[in-house]
Amino acid sequence: MLPPPPSHQGGDAPIRLTDNDAALAKLSAARLGYLSDPFIKHFVPRASFQPSRPPLINIGTFVRTVTIDDLVEQWIKLSNKEGKRCQIVSLGAGSDTRFWRLATGPQNDGLSTYIEVDFPENTMKKAMAIKKSKDLSVILGSPIDVKLGGTALSSPRYQLFPADLRQDPNISLKSLTTAPPPLNPSLPTLLICECVLVYMQPEESNCLLQWFQSYFASTGVLGTIVYEMFGLGDSFGRVMVSNLKVGETFEVLISARSPDELPRSSSKARNVSLPGADPFPSYQSLPSRFLNLGYTTARALTLKEIRRSYVEPEELDRISKLEMLDEIEELDLVLEHYAITWGLSLTSSSMGTWSEWGLVKREWNAQDD
Ligand SMILES: C[S@@+](CC[C@H](N)C(=O)[O-])C[C@H]1O[C@@H](n2cnc3c(N)ncnc32)[C@H](O)[C@@H]1O
Repeated sequence: MLPPPPSHQGGDAPIRLTDNDAALAKLSAARLGYLSDPFIKHFVPRASFQPSRPPLINIGTFVRTVTIDDLVEQWIKLSNKEGKRCQIVSLGAGSDTRFWRLATGPQNDGLSTYIEVDFPENTMKKAMAIKKSKDLSVILGSPIDVKLGGTALSSPRYQLFPADLRQDPNISLKSLTTAPPPLNPSLPTLLICECVLVYMQPEESNCLLQWFQSYFASTGVLGTIVYEMFGLGDSFGRVMVSNLKVGETFEVLISARSPDELPRSSSKARNVSLPGADPFPSYQSLPSRFLNLGYTTARALTLKEIRRSYVEPEELDRISKLEMLDEIEELDLVLEHYAITWGLSLTSSSMGTWSEWGLVKREWNAQDD
């Protein structure tokens, strides 16, 4: 079979390249001891030569990763409490390593299937990296089957699919539902959208989420996590947008406090736009993404709030010793423009156990303020 045609051709390159930033940030956070991720180096070319990222980025990467890990871990435990193994689908997965971290961790037995989707150019790169690395492929087990001209990979529990998620999911995600369907409609399923929906038009991401919701509506339980930027209309949000357009990454934010202070042009111009952030001026507006589609419950928290009140104090204390951070004010400004939103779509009979799913505020401690 021929590989699917590359969509939107070269115009999508800047969006696909955002994966490089995400992978470099994770590599840096792992190397400096913020996170434990022995696998990310296999997805970054010349990993040992890559410079570390500034503390602000390392801390943001830490907060985002441990929070999503927490929600994933809870999902697996709740599925097991219901006597089931769970299924995880990561959209716009890029070079993410969560499957390998789960498969080598204590939650391994609770996981039935892990499916990743990205543009064919990115899935091809990932499939090649997996085949090249014994550390990665041994964890997949055998057989490992590379298909669709090298853009898809399947193994007993892990599947990698190429798709343009902006297209009609009945066509772009058809291979997930073709018998025997990789996507089992009766398993508790967690959808992870880690910094991907923001690159699509709101109608496109709504259609995508609606498709998953319908697929699980009669028999299953669907949880969804979205991590991304919001509130980009305020002055700091506009700095972030200009920043992406000129191809600079977040370290520019440390010195530039207004859009006027940013470099006017750059040969690295990326022109990444973030249409998906438009409907969400505040974090309070974020749950509407799910509630308007008929999800049962939804909640959102900014990374600033999560860092302040939801991350274990021992962990905050530990990472505070890794690097000097002078720019606390800038850190808060950046973290309050990123949020994690989680939503649950249930049939009426299934609420019980699942109502426990979500972030839990840690106990207040007199030293906190
Ligand atoms: C910022 S990266 C995040 C990667 C990964 N989720 C993470 O957090 O490390 C965004 C990813 O979403 C993918 N992506 C964005 N729009 C997409 C689309 N329409 N179809 C498929 N993948 C898309 C990009 O190719 C890229 O790999």
